[in-house]
Amino acid sequence: MKPLWVAGLLAVASALAIGLSKREIGPGQEQAGNAQQLPLHAKRMSATDLEFSGDVPGSQAYDGMYASYGELLGLRQATFTVTDDPNFPVKAELGGVTLDELMQTLHIPDKKTLVAAVCDDGYEAHYSADYRAAHDPLLVLTINGKAPTLVKRSGEEGAYGPYLISHPRFIARYRILSHTEETQIPNGVIELRFLNEDEVLDAIHPRGNFAADAPQIQGYEIAKENCLRCHNAGAYGGLKAGITWSVLGKIARRRPKYFRAYIKDPQAESDYAEMPGFPEYDDATLAALTEYFQTVNTGSGQK
Ligand code: HEC
Repeated sequence: MKPLWVAGLLAVASALAIGLSKREIGPGQEQAGNAQQLPLHAKRMSATDLEFSGDVPGSQAYDGMYASYGELLGLRQATFTVTDDPNFPVKAELGGVTLDELMQTLHIPDKKTLVAAVCDDGYEAHYSADYRAAHDPLLVLTINGKAPTLVKRSGEEGAYGPYLISHPRFIARYRILSHTEETQIPNGVIELRFLNEDEVLDAIHPRGNFAADAPQIQGYEIAKENCLRCHNAGAYGGLKAGITWSVLGKIARRRPKYFRAYIKDPQAESDYAEMPGFPEYDDATLAALTEYFQTVNTGSGQK
């Protein structure tokens, strides 16, 4: 436990930080048409604090700062009944803040911002501006009126908390080969990261000139939505797998048959595999993924 005076100092420090960042945006630009405020603090005070990070400028200096559960509950809340979220086999009443609302509160621009929701096990879900506009993801703060930390996960150990993300309704917009647009519904979310989408895509875009319908491009589109949740390309993507994009590139080149087989059924390749398999991927889909990862730069000096 921290002594109280430390908490007091921290509160003063974060109030100062907010005061400074407000001054930076100048009078007149401030809080136009949106009176919402989200107080942030510079240190984690509770396991249910939500961390913010990233390099997209906002009106508040949010990088490395935290908001408490109670402060998030103080923002405008959206509520809906969810019936098609696999996390909730029985329909549930969800309440919380939409990612868009949260970004507006911090004055983070919508266009070109990719939101990464980072989980306690290194898993990451990704929300582009297009995805947010189509599916309206919600940072869930209440499940049937209870905090997510108090609600047991269906079919898994532990609770949903501190945060999870859901949607009023999810209708997949597209299919690439046998990959259907996937709903991004992480739980155990501890951090939201605001990134420049172009920079993330630049880190994983296939090197070389390929037609829009080339397998390398199709594989890339699937990989950025699927593999990037657990496998990282340098600073971007999930750390859950602990196997980087360039190592996947090496495997795709040196052992393409194993690479394809692992994606489809990891447990058939290794007794210890924890990666979920993708049995729905047909040969063309597995080939596209393999051809894409073969373009990934694996040379030294790469992240
Ligand atoms: C939900 C998390 C998750 C997703 C999504 C995921 N992986 Fe994995 N992957 C893992 C983990 C964890 C491992 C480490 C070995 C294990 O436990 O299976 C792994 C290992 C692998 C390996 C074996 C590496 C080796 O050392 O032999 C390959 C190949 C691979 N992943 C490819 C992919 C590709 C391609 C995608 C996207 C189509 C993908 N993974 C999506 C979690 C994931």
